[in-house]
Amino acid sequence: MAIHIFEAGSSLIENTVGKMDSNLTSMVLVTSAFVLSLGYFSKLIFKQFQSCDKDVKCPPVIPSSIPFLGHAIAFGKSPIEFLENAYEKYGPVFSFTMVGKTFTYLVGSDAATLMFNSKNEDLNAEDVYSRLTTPVFGKGVAYDVPNPVFLEQKKMLKTGLNIAQFKKHVKIIEEETMEYFTRWGDSGERNLFEALSELIILTASNCLHGKEIRAMLDEKVAQLYADLDGGFSHAAWLLPSWLPLPSFRQRDKAHVEIKNIFFRVIQKRRASLEKEDDILQTLMDATYKDGRPLNDSEIVGMLIGLLLAGQHTSSTTSAWLGFFLAGNRALQERCYAEQRTVCGDDLPPLQYDQLKDLTLLDRCLKETLRLRPPIMTMMRMARSYQTAAGYTIPAGHQVCVSPTVNHRLKDTWTDRMEFNPDRYLHENPAAGEKFAYIPFGAGRHRCIGENFAYVQIKTIWSTLLRLYNFELVNGNFPTVNYTTMIHTPNQPIIRYKRRQEKD
Ligand code: HEM
Repeated sequence: MAIHIFEAGSSLIENTVGKMDSNLTSMVLVTSAFVLSLGYFSKLIFKQFQSCDKDVKCPPVIPSSIPFLGHAIAFGKSPIEFLENAYEKYGPVFSFTMVGKTFTYLVGSDAATLMFNSKNEDLNAEDVYSRLTTPVFGKGVAYDVPNPVFLEQKKMLKTGLNIAQFKKHVKIIEEETMEYFTRWGDSGERNLFEALSELIILTASNCLHGKEIRAMLDEKVAQLYADLDGGFSHAAWLLPSWLPLPSFRQRDKAHVEIKNIFFRVIQKRRASLEKEDDILQTLMDATYKDGRPLNDSEIVGMLIGLLLAGQHTSSTTSAWLGFFLAGNRALQERCYAEQRTVCGDDLPPLQYDQLKDLTLLDRCLKETLRLRPPIMTMMRMARSYQTAAGYTIPAGHQVCVSPTVNHRLKDTWTDRMEFNPDRYLHENPAAGEKFAYIPFGAGRHRCIGENFAYVQIKTIWSTLLRLYNFELVNGNFPTVNYTTMIHTPNQPIIRYKRRQEKD
């Protein structure tokens, strides 16, 4: 899970390469990373890689004359364009190499079926994600444990993410949003993405960790999260985690300090006679199928994972939603009118039950997740031969599905590049294709945070629509920053003005 670590692998390459263009230091880092980790990777590659036998039909390979780097530079500059061109030329399944690894993309709903229906032993998530996640979350959780154990942990988390909790979360999120945005004053131009990232740490900590941990969230703790988050880096993906790099040390130090803070909260809770009704309590009371309770280290690892899994995904999505609304004043006014129709003209505090009736806002969020899904690629390691669209994919390939590409396929979506939330009201050609729309993944690795993310983002935007009118600065809609792990908006500045009484 994480800061959606899920997409880490390919996007990291993309980051690495995006920066390499202009940054010699990154070039040195990547080269040294390669030299240093050659031993490790070659062992892995030769142990697992099966070549394409003559009697099987392997996916078409996009040729490259650049040794080792392969297509990394072209992919890093514009991954979506690269994949769309490859789809046009080679069809739904194709392979290419980057940084010494072979990636096989499955494009479109039919081809993607392989990823979402296969067993974790065949297409494995730990092999590609755990290098990044284990130093951040700690041992014993997520991709550090066999998948059946992680599935049990996901089930426990899901139990805590229930409607009774969401009802409380709406009030918490609305209050945090009002409080946070007091600093914006009546009008101005500000960095929307930065603000939403800060706000979402506060709301997620409050809702997912509980009031004691939220109360401790000062600048020092925020810095610890930032250091921990720094663990999701190009270097962490490429280099062995024991190397004495400053960012690795900061990550490991932050991990220990955050763990200690959380341990103390858990111990205090255990000592107290009163039981809270929140996710922390759910985890403290949870047991595995064999009756064993979670130990404190597992609870803390899951709490860190919960926070980071929702952080970048939700803040990026919220920011893009803001720009789509700012770029279309008529749509923004329809969303504001919906607030008054659903909640009442005097706009009293929002209630959970009203969220489902905010159907236009819901469709706007759905459409934002179509055009800007935060997880650009899901990845698995093929541990044995796999078959997709009549091709045989050898073991050792990193098998990938990109929601971004599936969400805008010419063959599937009408007016594919248009932000049109009302498309879901009409007959939608994509509805018949199981994996045409997959912002939260599918199958055994599917997201458990979807409902919470919807509650969080819809509550934040209900509050913001009530507070302000938004517009783009000089009509500029942000371009996509492909150099970050999650595709964030470039120059995410928005113009805002407080709504007048009867606006
Ligand atoms: C807009 C918000 C979010 C988006 C778009 C999103 C997207 C995704 C995607 C695409 C996956 C599948 C990854 C894969 O198959 O490799 C996933 C898995 C997951 N997500 Fe999210 N997520 C979001 C928010 C959250 C939140 C708020 C939480 C926790 C509260 C969360 C927790 C998880 C977990 C635990 C998994 C399971 C990973 C696995 O089984 O391998 N996510 N998410």
